[in-house]
Amino acid sequence: MDYDLIVIGGGPGGYVCAIRAAQLGLRTALVEEKALGGTCLNWGCIPTKALFSATKLIHHAASSSAMGISFTQPEINLERLAAWKAGVVDTLVDGIATLLDKNGVTLIRARGRLDGPQAVTLSSGDRLTSEHIVLATGSLPIEIPGFAFGDPAVWSSDDALALSEIPERLAVIGGGVIGLELASIYNRLGSHVTVIELLPEILSVVDIDRRTVATLKRALKEQGIEVLTNTTAGSHAPTEDGVGVIIRTKDGAEIPADRILLAVGRRPNTANLGLESVGIEPDRRGFLAVDIGLRTSAEIVYAIGDIVAGPMLAHKASAEGVALAEVLAGHEMTAIRHELIPQAIFTDPEIASVGLSERAAKEAGHEILVGRFPYAALGKALGMREMEGFFQVVADAKDHRLVGAQIIGAEASDLISEAAIAVQAGLPLEVIADAIHPHPTLPEGLKEAAENALGKAIHTVNR
Ligand code: NAI
Repeated sequence: MDYDLIVIGGGPGGYVCAIRAAQLGLRTALVEEKALGGTCLNWGCIPTKALFSATKLIHHAASSSAMGISFTQPEINLERLAAWKAGVVDTLVDGIATLLDKNGVTLIRARGRLDGPQAVTLSSGDRLTSEHIVLATGSLPIEIPGFAFGDPAVWSSDDALALSEIPERLAVIGGGVIGLELASIYNRLGSHVTVIELLPEILSVVDIDRRTVATLKRALKEQGIEVLTNTTAGSHAPTEDGVGVIIRTKDGAEIPADRILLAVGRRPNTANLGLESVGIEPDRRGFLAVDIGLRTSAEIVYAIGDIVAGPMLAHKASAEGVALAEVLAGHEMTAIRHELIPQAIFTDPEIASVGLSERAAKEAGHEILVGRFPYAALGKALGMREMEGFFQVVADAKDHRLVGAQIIGAEASDLISEAAIAVQAGLPLEVIADAIHPHPTLPEGLKEAAENALGKAIHTVNR
């Protein structure tokens, strides 16, 4: 055998799996045809967050006159912004190449596909054999009839992140995570943004409570982002005067736009992988079935990340990659519990959650205690002029163990980790409530929410 392990796909699932496997002594090769780091580093999480933070400056500058500090209208140099964002991405991508090298992973720049049991053929024509093979090929954006990515008027998230222009009017089809994050960025850059969502509510695919969604919707409205729910985009055509396009909805409404961002979900990238050569059949949507040990129906082929069940998140893929590498190296399996995977959504305000929402906890039959605390009552948040949002904890009423938390507000993505540890460790509310948090800080909001659930909050009225 050429290798103990070949990993196909160098995103946050694949490269992490390869590094951990090599650390544990497996002779490991990583096959990647495009950029190391996959969608997350190159066309997803990292460029989005770079632009999120850069455009936040515009937002802060515009609202800081209330603090007695005024700026003139910011000038946006799109080329330099794009170059800075590319620099952030390049630094991280180069870092992965170095880590692979230092850990002894063989990096193979090619497209790989399964070629019968224990073999991978490469686009270069070579054929490699391996004891085990891990598929980590990620996902691709979905198209809908009437809106094809080849059409210059229709952007994928990759196109939107390329920052080629700031459209005057941007229509975003899909009020999910990607649609809303990019809507926030382009709104701050100056586009008039309209979000078109098929379902009665935005962010329906994420387990967050309606109260959280209502807070976000109110904020989006204040920012001038228009949200149309229960609306199906049917087709689009150029305008008569040739400026932009008109989107026709299924119920006959017309929405003018200069660009259309299509963000209606992603599908597993499992076509042309040679699955048939080992007898693996993806399901109707392209996902691969795996057992608790992430093994597919083929004995030595495993799958992780966006191509298997669970949230399509980088940190989920990485966790699966590490767990799998350890099993392949003879360690015990750490099963990945999907409900323990935190999520952060980079809208304005940010939303972060872990565990069960209040609704899901009730549906699961838990008798629950809920505690909340508003940002507006936090000294640190007031000093930052970040009064929008709240902290929410959901605990089991009997033993007070935290089963879920949600935060909507400034820095929610950074604040959720304390709750993630508590939910994972099954800690009771008392541990968070009694732990002394430094003052004045934002994490005090989680402590106060836990105290509120226990009926002993100091800075809000207990329910
Ligand atoms: P999504 O599944 O989050 O949202 C897609 C939305 O499009 C849904 O609300 C759906 O109802 C709507 N939709 C579907 N067809 C439509 C149509 N014809 N017209 C109008 N609306 C329609 O998918 P999204 O935003 O593309 O994200 C893909 C994946 O990437 C998700 O699983 C997400 O979790 C992940 N992701 C996560 C991020 C984060 O956690 N910060 C950031 C970016 C992506």
